[in-house]
Amino acid sequence: MKETPVRIPHILSMADLSREDIEFIFQTTDRFREVGGRPIKKVPALRGKTVINLFFENSTRTRTSFEIAGKRLSADVINITKSSSSVSKGESLLDTVKNLEAMAPDVLVVRHPAAGAAQTITRMLKARVINAGDGAHEHPTQALLDLLTIRDHKKTLSGLHVGIVGDIAHSRVARSNILGLQRFGSKVTVIGPKSLIPLGIEAFGVGVSYDFKAVIGDLDIIMMLRIQGERHDRLPFPNLREYSRFFGLNLQLLQKAKSDVVIMHPGPVNRGVEIAPEVADAPYSLILNQVKNGVAVRMALLYLLSGTEE
Ligand code: CP
Repeated sequence: MKETPVRIPHILSMADLSREDIEFIFQTTDRFREVGGRPIKKVPALRGKTVINLFFENSTRTRTSFEIAGKRLSADVINITKSSSSVSKGESLLDTVKNLEAMAPDVLVVRHPAAGAAQTITRMLKARVINAGDGAHEHPTQALLDLLTIRDHKKTLSGLHVGIVGDIAHSRVARSNILGLQRFGSKVTVIGPKSLIPLGIEAFGVGVSYDFKAVIGDLDIIMMLRIQGERHDRLPFPNLREYSRFFGLNLQLLQKAKSDVVIMHPGPVNRGVEIAPEVADAPYSLILNQVKNGVAVRMALLYLLSGTEE
């Protein structure tokens, strides 16, 4: 075993990752991609390591891909959800994490509805922590797989114009992608109704548009977002039909886009609301490429944070 150089101990925010860090993660990802195409999809890199997926919010893609990533690396992977744990009996996050720490995990992958939860956990245990989404704050592993997917298709991450469309105010995916894309010098425009775009977001170096139709022709990448209903007290627009009319992506609106535009969506998709089914399933839609890349990126992160070399 040889120590692998890792500059940061935890993956909490895209703000912590330099361009060089991201490129290093992608180099490692590229080494692991082919494992998914093998008849036996397993390498012994993390044999003897323990990964705990601690999910206080629902997840399909992130939780499953972290589990597959860990298992493809031969780690022992344990999944804990809010409903299946003693959190449902009133145990606190602090006590839950202290008890897990007593079982000596190497990596804890955490999803929690509170912003900063993953960061807080790092002060409670020795294990490496990966933020798998903390409230409306950040989802760094989603941004990494999104950047990789863009790089795969555009052969660069620089000089692009990326439109992120929808519920910007409540989207951890938007925040993490903005930070990541800016590292590479791409331009980001956030697009949505005024009620879903935070006031003053221009200060973070992004463009703002309330008119999707007016800007779509200038975009290289269109990243559609789900309305984060679980983070709203009330509907922030008159009704879903009206939202869809102005901010949904359908074939008619897509006619105004560049001929080589690609469409992304972190999922889960609400077909017919933010994206028409025929757009979500079209050849220029990278939605399932994003999911596929998620496994390889998460293999790289588990491997790098565990600090071992085959
Ligand atoms: N993109 C994403 O985080 O999806 P899940 O909520 O299904 O993990």
